[in-house]
Amino acid sequence: MQNPGIGLIGTGFMGKAHALAYGAVRAVFGDVPAPRLELLCDTPAERAGEMAAQFGFARSTGDWRALVEDPAVDIVSITTPNSLHKEMALAAIAAGKHVWCEKPLALGLEDAREMAEAARASGVATMVGYNYIRNPAFTHAQRLIAGGAIGDIVHFRGWVDEDYQADPDLPWTWRARIADAGLGALGDLGCHLVSMACGLCGPVESLVADMQTVHASRALADGSGRAPVENEDTATALVRFASGVQGSLSASRTAWGRKSRLAWEVHGTTGMICFDQERMNELHLYQNAGPKAEQGFKTILTGPEHAPFGAFCPAPGHQLGFNDLKVIEAADFLRAIAAQTRPHPDFAAALEFEAVIHAIADAARSDRRVRL
Ligand SMILES: NC(=O)c1ccc[n+]([C@@H]2O[C@H](COP(=O)([O-])OP(=O)(O)OC[C@H]3O[C@@H](n4cnc5c(N)ncnc54)[C@H](O)[C@@H]3O)[C@@H](O)[C@H]2O)c1
Repeated sequence: MQNPGIGLIGTGFMGKAHALAYGAVRAVFGDVPAPRLELLCDTPAERAGEMAAQFGFARSTGDWRALVEDPAVDIVSITTPNSLHKEMALAAIAAGKHVWCEKPLALGLEDAREMAEAARASGVATMVGYNYIRNPAFTHAQRLIAGGAIGDIVHFRGWVDEDYQADPDLPWTWRARIADAGLGALGDLGCHLVSMACGLCGPVESLVADMQTVHASRALADGSGRAPVENEDTATALVRFASGVQGSLSASRTAWGRKSRLAWEVHGTTGMICFDQERMNELHLYQNAGPKAEQGFKTILTGPEHAPFGAFCPAPGHQLGFNDLKVIEAADFLRAIAAQTRPHPDFAAALEFEAVIHAIADAARSDRRVRL
């Protein structure tokens, strides 16, 4: 497909990230077709018009159904709230469009399964926004592990902590209602941690878990009273990967001071690798080698040796940022579409990640071990 036509739905946090990625991807990576910024949708339509001018889209609409049906649109980006993903994705797939959808796929696992099945049956390419696994630091950690740098993997520890719901005085929002948001910290944050854990240790086989709602109710913004918080603020699971590796996964949206602490450690028989998204250009590696008196963690700063860092910048230490991960994601999606190969993670792979967060919620609610 020459110069695929892009239809972008949503212009918020992720809408802008997708727009920036489409705008930059050809300049950063010369081997991908230049996307044509064809049609932008948001509500109300006036907002779509303003943002189309800002993002450089040729046309705008307030009607997402018109966007997915538009003959000039080849790829649909879905960056709307979780509750809208399923309907939009199914319509785009039915119209024969490739779909880049933000995570989580849907509110519940049954809906996510339906989306993955529709994508499989149609043969269109799909991609889900698990951007953190695009980080050159992450893919380097995968290479280090595969190359035996820390021996056999024995243990994984992961945390994803933010503080956007830590303040008890924040007003109630749709994020607190299961019908609108689905899961809480697990759906917003935990699924990203799972995507990294699985990328390092393989699929999860079983788990036990606990979760809690820290602030049980919040004041309504209009002052008319309080409403319940229906989903979890924190969740923690003890997991067994299919490989036999044991680990723990923990997610919180009420962790004061943590802004994007998507962090993990992989423990091996001869060393350890650590990462924290708040310092996303660094890996920490400990190897049990050389004189004991000189052993210690070393910090590996990503640079051109860690592809595709060099596509952005020839100088090590100059640092990639969050939005660059979306550029890498866009490039991988466009390449897969051009080569007619399966993008990763597509809807089917995302379903496997999201099965884990729903298993954590099931295990916590039922107080029993859940097998995936
Ligand atoms: N991959 C990541 O790292 C990451 C980070 C944040 C959010 N997300 C995901 O991205 C999605 C969006 O989150 P966000 O933070 O960008 O939200 P947001 O509120 O900033 O943006 C949502 C956008 O969707 C638009 N919208 C809502 N209803 C619409 C409709 N019917 N038609 C057209 N447009 C409509 C809104 O006007 C807004 O522009 C969520 O699913 C979220 O989980 C992913």
